[in-house]
Amino acid sequence: PRKIIIDTDPGQDDAVAILLALASPDEIEVLGLTAVAGNVPLELTARNARMVCELAGRTGVPVFAGCDRPLSRPLVTAEHVHGKTGLDGPDLPDPTMPLQQAHAVEFLIETLRREPAGTVTLCPLGPLTNIATAFQRAPDIVPRVAEIVLMGGAYFEVGNITPAAEFNIYVDPEAAQAVFASGAPMTVMPLDVTHKALVTGARNEAFRALGTRVGVAVAQMTDFFERFDKEKYGSQGAPLHDPCVTAYLIRPDLFTGRHINVEIETRSELTLGMTVADWWRVTNRKPNAMFMGDLDAQGFFDLLTTRLAQL
Ligand code: BDR
Ligand code: CA
Repeated sequence: PRKIIIDTDPGQDDAVAILLALASPDEIEVLGLTAVAGNVPLELTARNARMVCELAGRTGVPVFAGCDRPLSRPLVTAEHVHGKTGLDGPDLPDPTMPLQQAHAVEFLIETLRREPAGTVTLCPLGPLTNIATAFQRAPDIVPRVAEIVLMGGAYFEVGNITPAAEFNIYVDPEAAQAVFASGAPMTVMPLDVTHKALVTGARNEAFRALGTRVGVAVAQMTDFFERFDKEKYGSQGAPLHDPCVTAYLIRPDLFTGRHINVEIETRSELTLGMTVADWWRVTNRKPNAMFMGDLDAQGFFDLLTTRLAQL
């Protein structure tokens, strides 16, 4: 199995991404979860990450708390999408498993130094603050990263937090810029892909029909999470942004994209946090990311539902 660290700000869709990874031990070994401030403040994301591990029955997965604010800006949160706790919907018990003592950035650095080079994949599902901080503090770990597979950005679909920017990149554009410029191999799941991973009524029913605690909780999460997108965009259901990352690790063949140059806007007031993706290769800038554009949505939901059934 592929060794990964999930860097996350749960978030209902983060939760589903984590569950999918934990349900797939043949393909994925989760070395740890690192929480970051994003959808809600750090205290809540660190709590929610542990609640999700407990829901999966995997209390041995170490969970670390990381950066509580972006590199150089005040934190912007998304309670309007995810609710006050960040994980509104199911009624999950408070976590009893401990939060690790070490800081998430320390864990990232130590793990990448300890494991053989090229064997650890980073899976960021929130703002890139923890990853950028680790890279800045310990540049020696960058060439040791096998791959970064992240959810963030948008191209044809443009923004969900401003007209130009996707939330994860917008919240910490300086961190995103550092990561995109790091030279580590990257695969990016932008809104263009994740807005195709819609939990329609039938797909939500399929989760609930699993009849398990996990299946019912996931149905309740997507029930809550879809309200925003339905009301705001007339969408057919909740977009499962972050699970695209963990699904990619299991079934890369479900996704198609292009290896292109992607730069992050950090200065413009209007387009702050935009992922300027050279989809048509109109510049000579060096490709730095596999930027995904399409997804086999039914294949994705079949995979997700059968794997969740394992928990
Ligand atoms: C991203 O922002 C968060 O609200 C979601 O969890 C996802 O990671 C989508 O823009
Ligand atoms: Ca997220």
